[in-house]
Amino acid sequence: METKGLTAKRIEEFEAKKGSLLEMGGAALIQKQHDSGKLTARERVQAFFDEGTFQEVQLFVKHRSTLFGLDKKEIKGDGVITGFGKVNGRDVFVASQDFTSAGGSLGEMHAKKIWKVMDMALDARKPFVSFNDSGGARIQEGIPALDGYGGIFYRNTMASGYIPQITAIMGPTAGGAVYSPALTDWVFMVKNTSYMYITGPEVIKAVIGEEVSHEELGGAIAHATKSGVCHFATENDTDCLEKIKTLLSFLPDSCHSPLPTMKTNDSVLRQCPELDTIIPDKSSRGYDMRKVVEAIADDGCVWECHELWARNIIVAFIRINGSPVGVIANNPKFGAGVLDVNASDKASRFIRFCDAFNIPIVTFADVPGYMPGTQQEWSGIISHGAKLLHAYSEATVPKITVVTRKDYGGAYIGMCSKYLGADYVMAWPSAEIAVMGAEGACNIIYRKEIASAANPEAQRAELIAAYEAQFNNPYFAANMGIIEEILAPRETRMRLAVLLDVYKNKTVKKLKKKHNNIPL
Ligand code: HXC
Repeated sequence: METKGLTAKRIEEFEAKKGSLLEMGGAALIQKQHDSGKLTARERVQAFFDEGTFQEVQLFVKHRSTLFGLDKKEIKGDGVITGFGKVNGRDVFVASQDFTSAGGSLGEMHAKKIWKVMDMALDARKPFVSFNDSGGARIQEGIPALDGYGGIFYRNTMASGYIPQITAIMGPTAGGAVYSPALTDWVFMVKNTSYMYITGPEVIKAVIGEEVSHEELGGAIAHATKSGVCHFATENDTDCLEKIKTLLSFLPDSCHSPLPTMKTNDSVLRQCPELDTIIPDKSSRGYDMRKVVEAIADDGCVWECHELWARNIIVAFIRINGSPVGVIANNPKFGAGVLDVNASDKASRFIRFCDAFNIPIVTFADVPGYMPGTQQEWSGIISHGAKLLHAYSEATVPKITVVTRKDYGGAYIGMCSKYLGADYVMAWPSAEIAVMGAEGACNIIYRKEIASAANPEAQRAELIAAYEAQFNNPYFAANMGIIEEILAPRETRMRLAVLLDVYKNKTVKKLKKKHNNIPL
């Protein structure tokens, strides 16, 4: 009978140990995970990476806590799968929490596995993605678990602006655990199977007597529509993973890496005749700015972020001539495209992301002003609006602004006007660049004349017409050199393509200092 050599035996033993670890929490808990509509941590990793490219790191790590019976409890992989692999041929690092192993709870060693892959991602200058599905800090372990989160938050912060960081909430995320997602650039959530909150329904009921379900309080739709914490609400785990891959296709590996380009047959010389008729005859009527963004994008492909929150402004990635561009656009279809607290926050964070990763910015302005009212004032529209000014001003990437229609008052400045730092401003013939709308303006500056006129309404109409003739067009601004160019809407894509190309090597000298103090 053939006997096995020592190495062969060791290999067999190793394979058995490895096989056992790969089984995670076992068949029953895997079934429970499936029954609740979720993939397992390992299935998520397999579905995410290009076939056969995932390389697991620190599979054999074990917890070392002996408290509250943990000395007798094996937690496979300590409840998290970590490693790296290729997504559409590009390297990405991952941590995928395994709910079948002690509820994916985060103990000291679980955290250290995540630290390791985050450190690797930073050193390798590659994106880091986290699939969260966890009961939170491992209660039996105590403070080392909390410190585990501390180390993750610290790394999230150090990595900010250096490598893209994406979190997918694919199960529970409660308490302080929510702060790692919030520190990353993009948060995806899966509808009906994921939730995140600082304090759950039970605590809320006990402390303030309010009754609310998990989903209503912290589900994907709540965070995608109400709080803005979630950028992408997805249908299920598979949809979530596919959408993360799409987002990654727009992002460079790091702030020092080139932008990823994609081949297109969509000519940069393509005209967009549909844009010549998109502005309604009546200036008070809305239209869908998303159609403008679609028209100018390569192949009409728009990757809108934060789609369900602050819909009065669009933030989206597109490509022009195959290269990624960040678009910020007021949307008159919702709330007349007004700037409010949420729209300012949404746009500011997007601008800073684009700037950090060298993605040029195109702004489409059609904005009647800042939203008036006590609710906005007391919510701090002053400081939130200031964020937008700060974000645009400090951004050094190419910044091109297109004024499609209204561009009034402080909001005109806020939507990347020339003196806020736009490199090049263009306006459609329908542009109205003014301190405010003609009617409001005349009611203020001609109050006495209108009141004392024999026919006040006729007088008001005449004065409004005169004000409109002066300002409700792009010519006054063009005469003053405040805008560089007036163009027919159909030419917008062509002109943007030329300008983005001409500015692609833009460099800006910055003052030597530690960092700006953005009005957070
Ligand atoms: C240790 C945990 C755990 C945790 C879950 N488990 N959460 N173990 N620490 N935080 C274990 C359970 O004991 C169970 O183990 C297994 O995971 C699955 O959990 P179930 O309760 O059976 O699952 P389910 O019914 O689906 O409920 C999921 C849950 C619930 C809603 C997440 O487990 C839960 O409420 N957990 C506690 C959540 C929480 O309060 N976390 C906050 C911790 S403090 P067995 O062995 O029975 O299979 C915190 C602060 C972080 O996170 C601060 C950072 C700065």
